[in-house]
Amino acid sequence: MKRLGILLSGRGSNFEAIAESIAAGCLDAEIAVVISNRADAPGLERARARGLKAVLIPSKGLEREAYDRLLVAELARHEVELVCLAGYMRLLSSVFIQAFPMRIVNIHPSLLPAFPGLDAQHQALAHGVKFSGCTVHFVDEHLDAGPIIQQAVVPVEDGDTDASLSARILKEEHRIYTEALRLVLSGQWRLAGRRVIAAGAD
Ligand code: GRF
Repeated sequence: MKRLGILLSGRGSNFEAIAESIAAGCLDAEIAVVISNRADAPGLERARARGLKAVLIPSKGLEREAYDRLLVAELARHEVELVCLAGYMRLLSSVFIQAFPMRIVNIHPSLLPAFPGLDAQHQALAHGVKFSGCTVHFVDEHLDAGPIIQQAVVPVEDGDTDASLSARILKEEHRIYTEALRLVLSGQWRLAGRRVIAAGAD
């Protein structure tokens, strides 16, 4: 069973979706540790409530690489094999990426490469796109840029606000994060250029 490490900075609903999938037997993995860089992240408390190991490592005032070394050490201590970013609001340095090459995944609330960065749902609405969605991707040293594992599309409706579009996207996030993890953990995929190809798909 693969050991997951979850990094979050806030609410933690994607973390909870992963935890639910594991509890339901839909994902053959265990959550070894949940780490937050923010003391006020509700996700930390939610992790504790599930009886999981939840660790606060405050990032404030620390230089990025020094902080990432602390994170890598904590993940190594818990023998984490795959790192799942779930609303983790910090860029990772190369120190971190090199410690977990192709073993860090992230979820982003847009159809990448459209609308990387903060407030992706607001960016999509402001741009006037008719469809948006979410993306699970491997993490490299660039922002929201690594190879795409899974995407889901949602329509943008005329009456949408940031909140209503975010809610529609979030529902799909919860679904595809598990699906993407299932593929990654199965090992039944390969990389062709930037393309993540599932075994049997060609
Ligand atoms: C999600 O929209 C995710 O795509 C983005 O940050 C948000 C985190 O939400 N990276 P939650 O903390 O998982 O509820």
